[in-house]
Amino acid sequence: MKTKLEEIRCTAKKLLSEAESIREIEDLRVRFLGKKGELTAILKQMGGLSSEERPVVGQLANEIRGDIEETIESVKKTVTEKELQLKLEAEKLDVTMPGKKHEVGGLHPLNRVLEDMIDIFRSMGFDVVDGPEVETDYYNFEALNVPFDHPARDMQDTFYLADNLLLRTQTSAAQIRVMENRTLPIRIICPGRVFRADEVDATHSPVFHQIEGLVIDKGITMCDLKGTLEQFAREIYGDDTKIKFRPSFFPFTEPSVEVDVSCSECGGKGCRVCKGSGWIEILGAGMVHPKVLKGCGIDPDEYSGFAFGIGLDRLTTTRYKISDIRMLFENDLRFLKQFN
Ligand code: PHE
Repeated sequence: MKTKLEEIRCTAKKLLSEAESIREIEDLRVRFLGKKGELTAILKQMGGLSSEERPVVGQLANEIRGDIEETIESVKKTVTEKELQLKLEAEKLDVTMPGKKHEVGGLHPLNRVLEDMIDIFRSMGFDVVDGPEVETDYYNFEALNVPFDHPARDMQDTFYLADNLLLRTQTSAAQIRVMENRTLPIRIICPGRVFRADEVDATHSPVFHQIEGLVIDKGITMCDLKGTLEQFAREIYGDDTKIKFRPSFFPFTEPSVEVDVSCSECGGKGCRVCKGSGWIEILGAGMVHPKVLKGCGIDPDEYSGFAFGIGLDRLTTTRYKISDIRMLFENDLRFLKQFN
């Protein structure tokens, strides 16, 4: 029995010394020391020994159990260290290696100008609102007092999606939605895309951008319109910018004006940017027509207001001296990168 015990000690230690993983060590522990293990099996036979032999063999068995347990602990330690070492080597990170550079994008020139404009109008107390690009005939035309036989309603000017559904031709459509939904007084701008069935050339695109402005309150006059637009023009183009009102016509404003700013490039002397005139037309505006107010449930005897629609694309092309409006929509990275 003693030899058998020594054999167990010998094989256990040998196998443990060769073990390479925690799993293997655990299997060996069960094989030798477990309830059905080899050592336990021997101890179960001790009943057949004489009373002198029993304590001697018992002591030896305990000593061997302790010996194997110790070996297990120390082998476990070395194996764990080895496993960690391997893991660290596999995940080694060279912090001195040069990093991968990501290309940084930039704002589109239209968005640069738009953000400046939003800042200016916000500082004057305007809210920024959004309106749908797909509109009904009512919001885009009818509620804006555009008569049924107005040429703008022609298929050649407007993209119709269905009988009563179209791509908005002007952000003015948002005016009506705002007047219907907001409490008075109103002071908003609504920037967005508009669509017209135009031929494409250097100055025309079937999609372009407007910024609608609307102010409704008691006692608003044309003087407020002029002051607001003058302030806006100065902040965009510089302190000595002048603006000029020219009489015009829009069905939803009365009186209506077209507004020019003095050319920031030549200061009004005439150059390529302003095509020699010294002025650049940037927007249409006017006092909101009483019929439009009434249609939105606002009493024109009590309230008045002004509206304007600024062309964002023109503002952008003149600011950055872009000769062709199409460049704004082609997304050519060689062009766009110049603005980063
Ligand atoms: N919606 C007009 C246009 O597209 C511009 C405009 C807006 C005119 C608001 C007057 C008031 O031409």
